[in-house]
Amino acid sequence: MLTLSLKPVTPFTHQTAKSPNPPKCCISERGHCFDIGDTFFRHESATGRDLGVLAAAIYKKSHNALRVLDAMCGCGIRSLRYLAEADADFVLANDANEEYGSVITGNLERAGKEYGENKRWVISHSDANRVLTECYLRRDYFDFIDIDSFGSDSSFLRSALGAVKLDGLLYLTSTDGFSSGGHRPQHSLAAYGAYVRPMPYSNEIGLRMLIGGAVREASVLGYHVVPLFSYYSYHGPVFRVMLRVRRGKLPDNRHYSFISYCSRCGNSYANSWDKLNAIGCSCKANVPGSLIVSGPLWTGPLHSAPFLTEMLNLAEQWGWTNNGMGKQLEKLLNQMIGESDPKLPFGYIKLDEVASRAKLNSPPLVTILSTLHKEGYAASRSHIASNAIKTNCLMADCECFLTRIPSCRYMNMDLGTLLLLDVVNASIVCPGKIKLKLKSGKENAVTVDLSR
Ligand SMILES: C[S@@+](CC[C@H](N)C(=O)[O-])C[C@H]1O[C@@H](n2cnc3c(N)ncnc32)[C@H](O)[C@@H]1O
Ligand SMILES: [Zn+2]
Repeated sequence: MLTLSLKPVTPFTHQTAKSPNPPKCCISERGHCFDIGDTFFRHESATGRDLGVLAAAIYKKSHNALRVLDAMCGCGIRSLRYLAEADADFVLANDANEEYGSVITGNLERAGKEYGENKRWVISHSDANRVLTECYLRRDYFDFIDIDSFGSDSSFLRSALGAVKLDGLLYLTSTDGFSSGGHRPQHSLAAYGAYVRPMPYSNEIGLRMLIGGAVREASVLGYHVVPLFSYYSYHGPVFRVMLRVRRGKLPDNRHYSFISYCSRCGNSYANSWDKLNAIGCSCKANVPGSLIVSGPLWTGPLHSAPFLTEMLNLAEQWGWTNNGMGKQLEKLLNQMIGESDPKLPFGYIKLDEVASRAKLNSPPLVTILSTLHKEGYAASRSHIASNAIKTNCLMADCECFLTRIPSCRYMNMDLGTLLLLDVVNASIVCPGKIKLKLKSGKENAVTVDLSR
């Protein structure tokens, strides 16, 4: 078996030999042609790669330096993009699978073939933990470490924190939807230190579980992490978080706490460590099992709005927001910026859940958002769930506002009930749809049950 040398002069003795016949290009991403051979590659992860490259490029601009460790590089596409797009000074591209060597080499040669002192990239085939630990032991710290791992393997967290520069960035991944869904709490406890139970916003919990795991590991070393963005993608599912590593303990312990969800009234709360004995719900439901508690988890902001705004500006500058794929990236970044409002708590409320609790039809998302804004609440879309909102308005109050939205209030009521309410006149627009004239003078076209 090949091993890494610990000597700083020749750090990667097992570096893959240059491929005599660079593999032919078969795939293209953001204008880069590359080969995937038999490596593990997912087109669907392109947005995750775009986000990583934008963050790396912003880091390079502000620090005038960028050394990247791509710990699980697959075919090397990220490494290629960090070199070509983020202008990385140096990339260490590692993948445990030695058979990927010629594909990675062929792809990285597309970024240039400098040798010796000027070499901008090196390839290694070792366990990520070993590579990270050896970098730490050599004091060879990196500005940006990308760990595109499978499942909930969190064993790299400590070694990555040891190998990253202070103020450097860690790009972490989890693909364990079972743990975030609360289906294996013992497993999430072992991996991320969080006992996770099923909750209605489990995909956001997945991000908070991953950040929480990093918070815990960082605190052991006397560091804390600041999330710059958190991205959920349904394919996989994949949870990705970009964290800035800072010296010093977590400044605000409020953000690492327990989340409770009351299945009876639908309200959620963050519960601090010192109040665990008093966990309850304002609805005072004493129904056994109605309160679901998960944690400890990251309950602070998922993103940094100023950082995301820089990413969006850069994406626009690079022409990444023009076409179909680009529009999606722009929409995603804008949604994340919306989610960054510090007044917004963790979690999201699915509109179908509000409607079903209120026994009304689901309103258009924009309508409920504007109603909540008018009422003085913070509210945004969620990039995680398309028919859900993030808001600091409690579930019971959301239900109440729904009854004030005419399209929810009158939908599917029979005519008799409508006329007893605040409707003065009704005229048929088309089958199943009538126009209502309300006492307020407003008119609303809604679907009513004319058969009753
Ligand atoms: C999700 S794939 C990487 C995909 C790649 N980053 C991309 O964007 O296309 C994960 C890679 O990690 C490698 N891998 C798995 N376990 C590893 C370990 N312990 N150390 C290093 N590499 C590992 C696998 O061979 C696989 O290529
Ligand atoms: Zn309750």
